[in-house]
Amino acid sequence: MATTAPPLVNPFREGLSLEGATQPVQLVIFGASGDLTQRKLLPAIYNLCQAKLAPPAFSVIGFARQPMTDDQFRKVLTDSVAASSEVRVRDAAALQQLVECTHYVAGDFHDDAAYATLRDAMQRYDRQYATNGNRIFYTATPASLYGDIAAHLHGAGLVKPGEQPSFVRMIVEKPFGRDLASAKALNSELLTYVGEDQIYRIDHYLGKETVQNILVLRFANGIFEPIWNRRYVDSVQITVAESLGIEGRGSFYEETGVVRDVIQNHALQLMSLVGMEPPVSFDAHDFRDEKVRVVKAIHPVTPADVASVAVRGQYGPGSVAGDRVVGYRQEPGVDPNSITPTYAALRLVIDNWRWAGVPFYIRSGKRMPKRITEIAMQFKEAPHLPFRKAEVETPGGNVLALQIQPDEGVTLHFDAKVPGPSMRIRAVEMDFNYGETFGVSDASPYERLILDCMKGDQTLFDRADGVEAAWAIVDPILTAWASDKDVKFPNYDAGTWGPAVADELLARDGRSWRRL
Ligand code: BG6
Repeated sequence: MATTAPPLVNPFREGLSLEGATQPVQLVIFGASGDLTQRKLLPAIYNLCQAKLAPPAFSVIGFARQPMTDDQFRKVLTDSVAASSEVRVRDAAALQQLVECTHYVAGDFHDDAAYATLRDAMQRYDRQYATNGNRIFYTATPASLYGDIAAHLHGAGLVKPGEQPSFVRMIVEKPFGRDLASAKALNSELLTYVGEDQIYRIDHYLGKETVQNILVLRFANGIFEPIWNRRYVDSVQITVAESLGIEGRGSFYEETGVVRDVIQNHALQLMSLVGMEPPVSFDAHDFRDEKVRVVKAIHPVTPADVASVAVRGQYGPGSVAGDRVVGYRQEPGVDPNSITPTYAALRLVIDNWRWAGVPFYIRSGKRMPKRITEIAMQFKEAPHLPFRKAEVETPGGNVLALQIQPDEGVTLHFDAKVPGPSMRIRAVEMDFNYGETFGVSDASPYERLILDCMKGDQTLFDRADGVEAAWAIVDPILTAWASDKDVKFPNYDAGTWGPAVADELLARDGRSWRRL
């Protein structure tokens, strides 16, 4: 008798699509003259307008200390669009439309009067562009200003919890705090002025198409999930390698280091997407509940464990892609005796039924030989090989590699028979490449995330408990390293894959880093 299979649970019913309406809105950017605004935000806003994804009733207001007229800020906008490689379609009419609804207000971030001026300007433009009182504030400033900005906005009557019927949202950039205590303090400060449902803590990794594809690969296919666990997975390696150095951000990086800059946020986001349980749906609550749950399940690193689960490095002079580059300590704005790490590797385990005993190795560094972000699921070996050892040329085992960037795609490594009369075996690859398959370039992560905020969709933003859980993982490591200043830096040459201690971290488990 024929039976009808029950419909599979599809968690993608609503989320992860570009459908959904945006409402009229004013977007206010704090730190409008800064690097992030010019390199990322303005081109992303232009792309949204060009693609007609931004609402028809829309305006942008830049706010920063630097005195500028509207026209000067509009020039910043056109220059940044012209310079950006993330702009897909050069459309003079679309740019002109955006230029015409872009304004600038100069003022000190700590000055009440500046926020009164901003409020007056916002009221004026709200009427002019019919944006119905809807406001998004984007903090693209140094992190130390986020709390103050929210307090001043509140003081000027520009933000309040649960504003209705018009909406008020704040997009808060990373780094969100510099340790667990400051992240908690920032959360509680922000939450006095706005509700959690109004705060959009941004991590641009969640806006990357390939990062979202981790979810689709896992939860829209029936074949991966049954083997996505401790019975089949031997270990997981997450690499966030950059060939760039610190790009003139010496004083920022001195205060930050690789753990705060990349591991606490981008790398742990990747780990949570790989490790999380399937959410019931991709609405912001269900999805983030699962994402936070897995971070909370990461085995806490105690001060006594730090030496055995975390290693740090700092690059010295070397050469990257054929160019000689200086060491970290020689970079402008860096203390010549700095012990700020530019590389770190961690061994983490997740204490739950799915992952007990499976190590997750995470590494990130500046001035690596190349830029590559990859998640590799290493599967357990076949329990018995019925072939003679001599016939196995280069056994690779089974690895599912999710390439997040730059060659976006998924590769399955497995062993195959070499053609010929004998049973010779060699590692081969099966490849899916994003660019080749879809033939379109990705939207920039900022574009996607600003659009989601316009739509009121918090799914791809961090929740208060999420950032705090991530800080809780790295906090003991940061504390231990801050108090142990006796570290021999530099310990890797620019253009190499990091310090020897990172290799030892895996060698202790009988494993080695993938050669990328
Ligand atoms: C940022 C860090 O958050 O992410 C930078 O501050 C880093 O130091 C960057 O270079 C990496 O992002 P992406 O998208 O280039 O991998």
